[in-house]
Amino acid sequence: MAKSPVLSGKAFAKEVRRNLADEIKLIVDRPPGLAVVIVGDDPASRVYVSMKEKACGKAGIDSSVVRLDESVSQKGLLQEINRLNEDPSVDGILCQLPLPGHISANIVASAILPEKDVDGFHPENVGRLWRGEDGLFPCTPVGIIALMKHSNIDIDGADAVIVGRSNIVGKPMAALLLREHATVTLAHSHTSDLKGLCRKADILVAAVGRPHFITRDFVKPGATVIDVGISRTDDGLVGDVDFDNVAPICGAITPVPGGVGPLTIAFLLSNTVKAWKRVGVVS
Ligand code: GUN
Repeated sequence: MAKSPVLSGKAFAKEVRRNLADEIKLIVDRPPGLAVVIVGDDPASRVYVSMKEKACGKAGIDSSVVRLDESVSQKGLLQEINRLNEDPSVDGILCQLPLPGHISANIVASAILPEKDVDGFHPENVGRLWRGEDGLFPCTPVGIIALMKHSNIDIDGADAVIVGRSNIVGKPMAALLLREHATVTLAHSHTSDLKGLCRKADILVAAVGRPHFITRDFVKPGATVIDVGISRTDDGLVGDVDFDNVAPICGAITPVPGGVGPLTIAFLLSNTVKAWKRVGVVS
């Protein structure tokens, strides 16, 4: 049984969403608007998009979903994004990933107006993140930092190791931890002695997408372990961390499910409200 505190992202996300809903209730003119674009019919993407729609509805955010056929050209998708860029009732735009192979996620991210880029993938927002400026930043890492602060975990001066260098989680996580004055190492599949490196971490973030990859021998006793992974296996949804094996020795740990997952949607809503307020975004 786990002895370490389990960081409930689920409970924290609920609180964040309740606070956003309260803030939105006070709005006198029009509600915040989020447009989600989905290309093709990847089953996991469909589930995520419907969860986002539902969460928007509950918070009082107007959401619309633009569904495009798998065969849509990149030009056709960019035209749709331009239309949303020009629509004054749309504050935030998100294009659900993954996209079909003939469409470049980077080109799509660059086409969304930076002030409507609630995923934080536009180069302007990426630059602002690394320069320590205000902007819109990726929802999952923003949520992880907020959860750690809410849970009184010391980030300032901590040795942080992130495993996984994706644009969605690993790289922005590194930038955000650095902004909080952690000493950051971004590890990946070519890292030598990954286990030894992870064992030095006060904060270990696992974002590799390999079920139960992180076992007790990767973890320094007392460390905070953040599990971003979520894989569907015969045993159900499984994280990158072998929870039962690691929990007894770490200082704090996020479970799967109920840890990091719910934060992504909560902080997507938060980014949408930030874009709607136009405070702290590119102008
Ligand atoms: N697919 C998986 N995670 C994400 C995300 O955070 N944003 C988008 N747009 N697509 C995703």
